[in-house]
Amino acid sequence: MDEQGSGPGASDCPTGIALSAFNPEFRECPHQILNRLRAAEPVHRDRQFDRVVLTRRADIEAVLGDRSLGADPRKSRPGSFVRMAQIVDETYQPTMLNTDDPEHKRLRSLVAQGFNLRAVEAMRPRIAAVANSLLDGLAGRASFDLVEEFAGPLPTIVIAEMLGVDTADQKDFKRWSDALVMCLNPRRSPEQDAALAWSRENLGAYFRRVIGERRAQRGTDLISALVAAEEDGEKLTEQEVINTANLLLAAGNVTTTDLIGNAALCLLRHPDQMQKLRERPELIRNAIEEVLRFDPPVASTLRITHVEREIDGVMVAPGQTLDCVILGAGHDPAVHADAERFDIERADTTHSAFGGGAHFCLGAPLARAESQIAIPLLLARFPRLRLDTDRPATHKVAPPFNGPAGLWVRTD
Ligand code: HEM
Repeated sequence: MDEQGSGPGASDCPTGIALSAFNPEFRECPHQILNRLRAAEPVHRDRQFDRVVLTRRADIEAVLGDRSLGADPRKSRPGSFVRMAQIVDETYQPTMLNTDDPEHKRLRSLVAQGFNLRAVEAMRPRIAAVANSLLDGLAGRASFDLVEEFAGPLPTIVIAEMLGVDTADQKDFKRWSDALVMCLNPRRSPEQDAALAWSRENLGAYFRRVIGERRAQRGTDLISALVAAEEDGEKLTEQEVINTANLLLAAGNVTTTDLIGNAALCLLRHPDQMQKLRERPELIRNAIEEVLRFDPPVASTLRITHVEREIDGVMVAPGQTLDCVILGAGHDPAVHADAERFDIERADTTHSAFGGGAHFCLGAPLARAESQIAIPLLLARFPRLRLDTDRPATHKVAPPFNGPAGLWVRTD
């Protein structure tokens, strides 16, 4: 197969919209579709979305780890998928997620320390206190939406505290960041476009006020650290402080909400595994890694080619988008025996859920800590926790994110 051609079985391959959360079948049950694609065309040229879709773990790991590939959509070719997913015009505000070195290194290094393993370990008692107080509020409730009342607020409060902003504003943050993550959705409705602009405006105004306050009085929070870097000279502009705070707020809560939601859903759908975890709580770390393999919160991540290259016989032009389907990588039978089985004792829990290479998720230790704390506390508080069969869980339509839109449970 070459740049112009199509591979064997191409006409039968799911492509474009069918390979996205806009397809209800894919949204609720992506693996049959991805397994078919991986078997027929592991390096798939998607003409509808102008991208090359990768579903094999080995290809995805190689691409994510390859620092000669980029992440800045301004360097992609016109019409390519990465430009569909983001508005790349003169108002474009890049963050570390979509810049290349040296800008990427400069933006990332300023906040990296706040998220390292040591910093996160020190936060564990506070994360547990926030989780417990949310669970206190649910005492005596026979049923509730676990996403709305637990998995959603926990990461929002934690990241708001790290940024040093008022947690009383967490409901606003949740609304703004839910609208903000639509910035990666390649098919936004006009209403979602309007909500995105509204959230950017509100967050910009909010953070501009907080930055002003921190200039007057420095704290030990992340925004104070960013303000110090800004005042240190050329390192950071005020707009970059705002963009970084926006990224951390959105990345810090939507994905972790989805991880806690997906973990709860996996366990509720596999009661034998939930029972095992109740009996052997020391399995929680492995259980969370298995959720990250089996049902990862970020379905895919992108890279851009700067020069022509070949992947398994497929020639990829410069400026093309490579779509690394993380969801597919976790179920690759070449890596995981019996990949469709959810097993909290699985030995081969390796996964690509946090991406890789230069852009490897900065918040991975935090996301792991929050979910490793949240799930055991939830199970301990509700010994009879089960799915509310009157209100089945559905997945949200917010690509590339993968998590339940709501998760109604019963406790009685
Ligand atoms: C389960 C939860 C999470 C998942 C699954 C997740 C996943 C990811 C993925 C797939 C990427 C892109 C990596 C790549 O392209 O190689 C990423 C980047 C990033 N994540 Fe996360 N993330 C999670 C939680 C968090 C949290 C809690 C934070 C921080 C508060 C965070 C901050 C970031 C940042 C700043 C980047 C950009 C890093 C860079 O470009 O250098 N994430 N994450």
